[in-house]
Formats: sequence, C-alpha cells, structure tokens
Amino acid sequence: MTNKILFIANWKMFGDLKSIKSIESVINISKKKRYRKAKIIYCPPFTLLNNFVIKTKKSTISIGAQNCHHEKDPGPFTGSISSSMIKKIGAEYVIVGHSENRSNGETNKQINDKIRNAITNNLNVIFCIGESLSDKKNKKTNSIISKQINLGLNKIEKIDKIIFAYEPVWSIGTGKVLKNQDLKKQILNIKNIIFKKFRKQKAKIIYGGSVNNKNINDLKQISQLDGFLIGGASQNSKKFIDIIKKTIN
Ligand code: PGA
Repeated sequence: MTNKILFIANWKMFGDLKSIKSIESVINISKKKRYRKAKIIYCPPFTLLNNFVIKTKKSTISIGAQNCHHEKDPGPFTGSISSSMIKKIGAEYVIVGHSENRSNGETNKQINDKIRNAITNNLNVIFCIGESLSDKKNKKTNSIISKQINLGLNKIEKIDKIIFAYEPVWSIGTGKVLKNQDLKKQILNIKNIIFKKFRKQKAKIIYGGSVNNKNINDLKQISQLDGFLIGGASQNSKKFIDIIKKTIN
C-alpha cells in the first residue's frame, strides 16, 4: 500500500458502460506530476470491474470491488462474487462492512470472514466502520466502533493491508458532516482503539460520508486522515477532480 492521499470512489449501484468514458479526465489528472501524491481507487459495480481495470491499465489508478462473499469459492452461492474472483479480474481492493450492507443483515462474523479471505487473496481491504444516528444519540459511538473493529478483525494480526474507513451512518448521502473538531476527536479515538488492539501498528484511516467539493477544504485540515471514501460526488468526474485538486493544492 502507499503513503499517498487516498481518494476512493464508491460508485455504489450507479454506472453503465457509457459512464466509463467519464473517468478519462480523472485518468489524465492522475498522470500529472502535480497530483502524484493522490492515490485514486475506483470501486465500480461488479459488472464494470473488468472494464475499469482495462481502462485504467496505463495509469496509477487502482480498482476495487464494493463487496465480496464471506465464503471461499467455488461454492453454491447464487449471485455472489468471491475475493479470489475479484483478485483474478485485476482488482486490488475490496470494500467490506459498508453500512448499506450491514443494514441488509451482514454480520460482524461475516465481515471478519470476508476480510480474512480478502487478505488471503492478497487484496487490500477498505474496512468501513461507523455509528448510526441512534448510537450517536445514545453516546455509544466508541463502544460500537470498538465492537466493529474487535469482531471484524478477529484473528487478524497485521493491519498493513487494511484501510479503516470511518463512515458515520447518519452522514452517508445526507450532506451532514461532523464539525471538524468533533471529527478530529473521533478519528483520534478510533486510532486509539486500533493502536491498543494492534500493538502500536500504524493504521491508515480515511473518512467517508457526504464528502464533496465544498466541504473538502475543511476536511483536508484534519491531518490525521489518509484520505477519503467518496460516494455521490465521485460519480461526477468534475466534482471528483475538484475534490482531488483542492486537497492536494
Ligand atoms: P456519500 O457516500 O459520499 O454519497 O455520502 C459515501 C459512502 O457511502 O461510501
């Protein structure tokens, strides 16, 4: 993995063959010397993984999947994709534990299996953690995040292939973001939890939840962050480039 600033585009269930052309401007930016500090990772839907891998081949952009199945392949799991299949198609990353999947019933145990399989297959994992609005109201943020980390990373010794993505559930797609000083405090809390569990290994931590080309000027001030996980704003190349430029400049 890299020490660069991560810009991870989570396209969710958006995009078709036509939309691939729209990333050409982002590929061009990624080739400019000025932006070499940026590490761009696209996570398109499964149906576009191969196209994205081919399209970005001659660039420094990497490709990731948005999920994987918790079992190893082969297996009778209709509609599912394993981490080894993701690796074989040329992707290098996988998002695991996104709240949109947790809310569909994905358990911490399954998340743990997914992460272990992904690491075995030499994928980097974008591990999403974060509290819901009611957790926040009940002041359970730290205990929930601690539980997600402890169960999600059970029996995992090394975190060099893991990117921790702090995504407060109430912030995703809502336009609501913590005040900078509160977010900074929360990032430090999470770093502390990780630091204790993983005996001082250095953790990469990014923020996700309504990141856009307006709030990026504030968010980039948080020096503890290694980058951003960007949903809605990453599907528009102009906005995505604006986020990258404002962060790097
Ligand atoms: P958002 O999504 O940027 O649209 O809030 C972020 C995410 O869900 O990863």
